[in-house]
Amino acid sequence: MAKVRVGLVGCGFSAGLHIHGYHKLAPERCQVVAVCGVPKSDAEKFAAEHHIPNVFGGFDEMLAGVEVDAVDLAVPNYLHAPFIIQAAKAGKHVFCEKPLTGYFGEPDTPKDEHVGGHPKPKMLERVIEECNRVEKALKSSGIKFGYAENWVHAPGFQKVWRLAAQAKGTILRIEAEESHSGSHAAYAKQWRLSGGGSLMVKGSHPLGAALELKAREGRLKFGKPILPASVMCEVGHLTWMEAFKKEKKEYLRTGWQDVEDWGVIVVKFEDGSVAEVSAADTTLGGVHNYVEVYLSNARLRANLVPNDACVAYAPEPDIFGDEYITEKIETKGGWTFPSPDEDWFQGYYQEIADFVDAIIEDRQPLASLELAKNVMIVLYAAYVSAEEGRRVEVTDLLQSPA
Ligand SMILES: NC(=O)c1ccc[n+]([C@@H]2O[C@H](COP(=O)([O-])OP(=O)(O)OC[C@H]3O[C@@H](n4cnc5c(N)ncnc54)[C@H](O)[C@@H]3O)[C@@H](O)[C@H]2O)c1
Repeated sequence: MAKVRVGLVGCGFSAGLHIHGYHKLAPERCQVVAVCGVPKSDAEKFAAEHHIPNVFGGFDEMLAGVEVDAVDLAVPNYLHAPFIIQAAKAGKHVFCEKPLTGYFGEPDTPKDEHVGGHPKPKMLERVIEECNRVEKALKSSGIKFGYAENWVHAPGFQKVWRLAAQAKGTILRIEAEESHSGSHAAYAKQWRLSGGGSLMVKGSHPLGAALELKAREGRLKFGKPILPASVMCEVGHLTWMEAFKKEKKEYLRTGWQDVEDWGVIVVKFEDGSVAEVSAADTTLGGVHNYVEVYLSNARLRANLVPNDACVAYAPEPDIFGDEYITEKIETKGGWTFPSPDEDWFQGYYQEIADFVDAIIEDRQPLASLELAKNVMIVLYAAYVSAEEGRRVEVTDLLQSPA
């Protein structure tokens, strides 16, 4: 295919990240020809700002109203699986934001019910069913599926992997975290829209990075991925603490309704190695995203955000005026780590370029459906572990349907 025509589904925060990626590509390779959103007026505003010729008020209208080769799903989590299946049936390549799917309640759950208290084994069962439905739809359509896991495209992660591959040592332990002072989006506060709390919304990134590293190590050494065998997990509601609630000044976002604002997962892999993955909406000082890899013969660390590509000091917060420093930082005063190009360091341009290249070159994108599925299953097995206070085996759950 010479030029890929993309329809962008959603016009919010992540759509903003994606459109910058598409605009970095040569116009002969790719064009975003349409955008849709709810309400349509938001999509109209986005289209005017980013020079997108066609605007729609929903996904159905977009599919019916314009010729696209691929769709980019930058919509809330509960829409991912149904939209992937719909796109696959329409024969459109799909690039989908993380997470692949989630548990958002039962078909008969009242729309405004808090579902975070539903039994976690039931959630895990539903999520596996949904992953299988998505896989079936994608396999029967033969389209390309790109999992928008920007961490595995981040230059720091890529370098860590190349060094690990050269070192050839055993990856013994991985430590990875994504955290900040709280998600901006209202949907992140309700399980029925987000499918979980900090672990789901943020932790899916470091978990994806850890699973990808062990999978690559296995493919390189043994011709097959090293998979997770079991998980243990703890979650917390730190902003529900009485001591916190009594404080007068709030620097952290609050209002988490039925979702955790902190969590940690310990993954044990089938070769005996471990990954410690944490996520929080209770971390000050800007976004804190890193992965550290402890090998038998090396130690590696990728600082996605912050990193010291640029370091600044100002005795007063207003000295740097309107110049951007880094995402979710509380003050521009004192020592800071201004990012010269946060989207590049986080892999946002690279994930879009890979998706478009994959379509043109007729290959699967780098971040695969297998990774997307495994992240979901490990994550919901972790929620079972936290609820029941026990280790949960995942080996049998990760096998693909017949
Ligand atoms: N990779 C990352 O770092 C990253 C960062 C933020 C969000 N995300 C993911 O991106 C997704 C969207 O999150 P966001 O923060 O951009 O949310 P957002 O609320 O800013 O935007 C959501 C968009 O979805 C659109 N939408 C809602 N219902 C729709 C429908 N029925 N049809 C078409 N469009 C519809 C809305 O118009 C809105 O523009 C989530 O899955 C989230 O997990 C990823």
